[in-house]
Amino acid sequence: MEIFDQDTGLPVLLRALHVLAGITWIGLLYYFNVVQTPSFAAYGDEGRARSVSINVLARRALWWFRWSALTTLILGLLIVGATKDYMKDFMSVDGGDIAHDAAILVGMLFGITMAANVGMIIWKNQKIVIANAATLVAGGEANPGAPAAGRAALLASRQNFIFSFSMLWFMVGAAHLYGGYNGASAGKGWVFILISVVIGAALQLNALGKFGGRAATNKLLWPYESHKNAMITGGVLWVVLYLLSELLLK
Ligand code: HEM
Repeated sequence: MEIFDQDTGLPVLLRALHVLAGITWIGLLYYFNVVQTPSFAAYGDEGRARSVSINVLARRALWWFRWSALTTLILGLLIVGATKDYMKDFMSVDGGDIAHDAAILVGMLFGITMAANVGMIIWKNQKIVIANAATLVAGGEANPGAPAAGRAALLASRQNFIFSFSMLWFMVGAAHLYGGYNGASAGKGWVFILISVVIGAALQLNALGKFGGRAATNKLLWPYESHKNAMITGGVLWVVLYLLSELLLK
């Protein structure tokens, strides 16, 4: 057995652990988006029940969330590093290899952006929200900056929810679908990657409030104003990128 062989060696173990860490992360992302955030909103802004829940339950859920995100990212990059010849001829052999490479690159770019959102936006701001909740539970004064921190984290989390459908599709599809697409050329593969990156970057910048701020009055933030809007946006993104892949990679 060759240790770096794609089908028998270390990469198989890395893939198994990567998938486990990945479902833990994305499972919690879906819990936050479709269960916790709408439930906590129903408590009302300054309610004690909300503060206790954030301090006890969200604190624990966020621990698993951020560490599983980091683990998924590291294991994903390790798959690339530990698989023999993974990057050799990347995007240069026409047919199924190009389609596979284009799909995994888009999946990875979305996944890496999502992991950056977790580390640099969601966790950074949730620390402020949790500290505020702990202060309130102890009978202290509310931090006036907490609502803005919560809003920044919410927008990034809903953007991750939006990215997740397409990210998973291309991540899993790279090995299990696109390898069979024989019509892809390097040129068309790069066009597919470029269009995906431009759409993804526009959404990401919007979630960061770069097009008119983070206030709810900014109409461009429609995709983030409810988890249903985020689900619709994520679904549309997935359909658009899927059709694009059929057009350019098949
Ligand atoms: C965070 C950034 C991520 C990176 C850099 C990454 C990287 C990779 C790589 C390189 C592969 C191997 C693809 C191939 O050539 O066949 C892969 C496969 C896979 N990844 Fe990720 N990934 C990331 C996030 C995720 C997430 C969040 C999930 C969620 C569950 C996930 C689930 C999977 C699955 C199911 C496979 C297919 C495994 C197989 O069928 O062999 N990945 N990933």
